[in-house]
Amino acid sequence: MQTILITGCSSGYGLETARHFLAGGWNVIATMRAPRQDILPPSERLRILPLDVTSEDSIAATIKAAGPIDALVNNAGIGVVGAFEATPIAHIRKVFETNTLGVMAMTQAVIPQMRERRAGVIVNVTSSATLAAMPLAAAYTASKQAIEGFTGSLAHELGYFNVRAKLVEPGYAPTTRFAHNTSVKVEDLIPQAYADFAAPIFASFARPAMTTRESDVAEAVWAAVHDTDCRLRFPAGADAVALANAG
Ligand SMILES: NC(=O)c1ccc[n+]([C@@H]2O[C@H](COP(=O)([O-])OP(=O)(O)OC[C@H]3O[C@@H](n4cnc5c(N)ncnc54)[C@H](OP(=O)(O)O)[C@@H]3O)[C@@H](O)[C@H]2O)c1
Repeated sequence: MQTILITGCSSGYGLETARHFLAGGWNVIATMRAPRQDILPPSERLRILPLDVTSEDSIAATIKAAGPIDALVNNAGIGVVGAFEATPIAHIRKVFETNTLGVMAMTQAVIPQMRERRAGVIVNVTSSATLAAMPLAAAYTASKQAIEGFTGSLAHELGYFNVRAKLVEPGYAPTTRFAHNTSVKVEDLIPQAYADFAAPIFASFARPAMTTRESDVAEAVWAAVHDTDCRLRFPAGADAVALANAG
């Protein structure tokens, strides 16, 4: 039976992906910063481990406790929306620490065992913001776009060892905790000079023509993990698929 480790399982896409792989018969290691036992169905195949992807010690302890892993899903992430000039550089560092360096550190932590076994897959969850430039998301997009380039290059060198690297690109889900999971409020990142520019953008964010469901992402991660062709990108959700097809 195969084992998958997923980061950021306390809510949203990560939680649903953990549910999906449990239902699909996998051993699931669901990781979260503050572990909760009550949000996933009890199962002998489920382990919940603490993990903060911005902490080297936390990563080392979790990888040691996890044992052999067949699939890693780097899903944990935080957002930031606002005018770039008003976004504190300290917050941008935090976004990159989680969305970019956290993914790289987790990837480095699992490569040796996968390389030695000549098997495994790493799935990095980015965003549909990488498929078409969206306004007021410059720093967030940069953090995810870096992982797009990273994963494309990595897929080549890991492919030499029969280890796969994939991208899942979700669209916008108003139903996850993503919009609230930030220490910086959007209102504080829109200076008066940007107010007229931002107003219609926020109005359209509030009435999206298409959105992504948690299950879309879980299914895309499943497809990416099981894909044995050289397909790199898996857009997830109606909005992301439409953007990918338009590109
Ligand atoms: N929702 C969207 O519209 C959207 C669109 C495109 C892409 N995405 C991407 O999809 C992924 C999942 O987002 P979501 O929508 O499911 O949001 P979410 O409900 O906020 O889930 C994000 C998860 O990441 C975890 N996390 C944050 N910082 C962490 C850290 N330092 N170490 C470990 N875990 C950490 C959170 O855990 P805590 O409970 O500890 O905070 C939470 O479990 C993210 O990478 C996000 O960028 C989301």
